[in-house]
Amino acid sequence: MPNLHPVIDRFHRAGQGQVFAFFDALAGDAQRALLEQAAEIDLDEVARLNRTLIAPGAAAGVDLTGLAPAPYEPLPEHGGDAHRWGAAKAAGEAALRNGRVAAFTVAGGQGTRLGYDGPKGTFRVTPVHQKPLFQVFAEKILAAGHRYGRPLHWFIMTSHANHAATEAFFTEHRCFGLDPARVHFFRQGRMPAVGFDGKILLEAKDALALAPDGHGGSLRALERSGALDLMQRERIDIISYFQVDNPLVRCIDPAFFGWHILAGSEMTSKMVPKAYAEEKVGHFCMQAGRLVVVEYSDLPLAVQRETDAAGRLRYPAGSIAIHVLDREFVRRMAVGGEGAALPFHRADKKILTLDAAGRPLLSEKANGVKFEMFVFDALPFARHPLVVETRRADDFSPVKNATGLDSPQTCRDDQLRQFARWLHAQGATLETDATGLPRAPLEVSPLFGYDEDSFATAWARLDPKPAVTPGLHLS
Ligand code: UD1
Repeated sequence: MPNLHPVIDRFHRAGQGQVFAFFDALAGDAQRALLEQAAEIDLDEVARLNRTLIAPGAAAGVDLTGLAPAPYEPLPEHGGDAHRWGAAKAAGEAALRNGRVAAFTVAGGQGTRLGYDGPKGTFRVTPVHQKPLFQVFAEKILAAGHRYGRPLHWFIMTSHANHAATEAFFTEHRCFGLDPARVHFFRQGRMPAVGFDGKILLEAKDALALAPDGHGGSLRALERSGALDLMQRERIDIISYFQVDNPLVRCIDPAFFGWHILAGSEMTSKMVPKAYAEEKVGHFCMQAGRLVVVEYSDLPLAVQRETDAAGRLRYPAGSIAIHVLDREFVRRMAVGGEGAALPFHRADKKILTLDAAGRPLLSEKANGVKFEMFVFDALPFARHPLVVETRRADDFSPVKNATGLDSPQTCRDDQLRQFARWLHAQGATLETDATGLPRAPLEVSPLFGYDEDSFATAWARLDPKPAVTPGLHLS
């Protein structure tokens, strides 16, 4: 084929020439747009994924050979060493006072299950004031900055689909009181979707079907966006990673950071004991001497239900997607040095694409594959990785579904129970039901108290103490 554009030529040689099937009929702008998108695609990577995940005979499912439960640092109430927990907290507090920590939220997901149209972080979650998720995190980060005398940087990963709307939301709300110079947004990468034959799909005649590369893409995106360099200039080496869907998260948790520091760990993760055998969370496991997370969908139910002689779950350690990452570890993973690279997972999906005549093709069932990376797949590459127990009630109540489990209702109730526990611990009187849910709504602003300790400090300063009446708002 004479005088082919080099990008088109590259696609033809890789057996992906179908991407330009309608190219000649496109206007100049549309041709340029398609070429620009195509130029971003790493065709060697696509070929490798086709070989390893799509081709007939490609390894099906996850290799579970030699799987064993992972060890973890238990809480003092479950046999952990209270002295070491104290030392961890002190080490984490010192790191915060020295400005070594940054917060990092992955907010590139689509929120499809929740059925909410807009960036998930703009979804309103608090019981009385209906604050959006982003505001809850912003206020926790702001308050922790005050507590430790060092304002924190906050990095937020968006997707192409929600980047502009996310930034606009923060501008509209003046970053919820944070210094805008310390709030950083960057987009995650995208991967082309392919058909079951491995051919890259078109979404339109002038556009590839591209999808976010999973939260594991955050490691590459932190590097590409210059965030790691910025952290280095600011002498930040501890990245506190959390998901946008969980307002309970103690995103600034000194003891957690301290365990990470004292262990010399490159990646440390929080676990909660699973609530029941089939709970849909990842499982911390050991395999060939390495720490791994196996998703519930990859772990046979029989294994999830295995118990020991005392009737306890053999694999109790649930992943709640809260990690701390060492900055230079992220860089090593991002550039793929020393053979360290996150694997891709295959997700079969309904993908909006075109038929051979260029008409939109709406499939009733999965018609192609998206490729995603998961951040927890970095654990086996980390030096001295560690798993640390946390109380579910202190750290985890995500909003994932419109109703039922992990819904706005369960999350609201868990926030209320948390406020009630903090008040009870300070000797305040309030009525709750048997599950600890207060009879009347109330709200504690993170600016007043964002965890049990900061709440206790703020409460001690109140003179006189307020009566706990319906609608009480401590701010
Ligand atoms: C995830 C974990 C699961 C864990 C659970 C805890 C995976 C595969 N599973 O499940 O082990 O027990 O959370 O709540 O991760 N995101 C991006 N970009 C993407 C995809 C996702 O930023 O391309 C972000 C989302 O905005 C969200 C988070 O990652 O903050 C989680 O994504 P989601 O797909 O909702 O994970 P879950 O299936 O709920």
